[in-house]
Amino acid sequence: MDDYISINRANWDDRVPIHLSSTQAYNVNSFVADPAMISRTVRFDAERMPDLAEKRIIHLMCHLGLDTLSFARLGADVTGLDFSGESVAVARDAAIKAQLDVDFVQSDVYAAREAVEGEFDIVYMSFGVLNWLPDMAKLGSVVASLLNPGGLFHLTEHHPLAMTLELPSKGDNLLVSSDYFGSDDPEINVSEASYIAGEGKIAHSTTYQWQHTLSEVVSGLINSGLRLTMLREFPFGTFPNGHPLTQRSDGYWHYAERPELAPLMFTVQVVRD
Ligand SMILES: C[S@@+](CC[C@H](N)C(=O)[O-])C[C@H]1O[C@@H](n2cnc3c(N)ncnc32)[C@H](O)[C@@H]1O
Repeated sequence: MDDYISINRANWDDRVPIHLSSTQAYNVNSFVADPAMISRTVRFDAERMPDLAEKRIIHLMCHLGLDTLSFARLGADVTGLDFSGESVAVARDAAIKAQLDVDFVQSDVYAAREAVEGEFDIVYMSFGVLNWLPDMAKLGSVVASLLNPGGLFHLTEHHPLAMTLELPSKGDNLLVSSDYFGSDDPEINVSEASYIAGEGKIAHSTTYQWQHTLSEVVSGLINSGLRLTMLREFPFGTFPNGHPLTQRSDGYWHYAERPELAPLMFTVQVVRD
């Protein structure tokens, strides 16, 4: 395999100015200006997490850091980690402007153990992370190495089945249009556009991505000695992704006519005994 880390990192660095120019998803200025603002993702996840005050949290693959900073606003002692230098620079700047004492570290996720000191009460990841990683067993061992005894790993992610679904041109049934069971080989994609519209194009347009089944994700964690304490699937998601979804008052999207149709995201929690 080519050096997927450098290839994907260059792609993510290019996305940062595009994401910054968009008010659709990452409104960094509004977040900084309003000290009461907590990201939608953290508001959702905090309902299924323990009290966060004074918890030592590491947020892996934190992008522009708005979820990371939200944890700080809820009283946690939080570190964000991402391999994109451009993302980390934006996140550090936002922390300074928001007057939040948060560390942001630049590192590949598989090197996280070497990149930070000590153990954490909570390791956290969310939305759009697993598809960038080739090996769920390796992720499980990194998570286990970061947690203190009794520590919790919380992941909320797009459901892997949702990643395979497409609407056919006629009718309202869904098509499974790509393989649910991914392979060890990466999917090589080329796109000059990111998942949210913004100014500019991605110059380093090639990415390497992987599809992981739900069982692969859970097995990667429990085979690293972590104990499963929660697995939940949700019939709503964070964006319509080409489907006729309706936005609810909480900001999430669902099939209004058939709200039980398909799993669109999931949460898994494991603990280190
Ligand atoms: C879709 S974002 C996920 C974060 C958050 N849910 C969001 O939407 O802002 C994916 C992040 O993962 C980072 N990333 C991708 N591969 C990585 C790797 N191997 N190590 C560390 N970070 C990585 C990217 O730089 C990007 O910031």
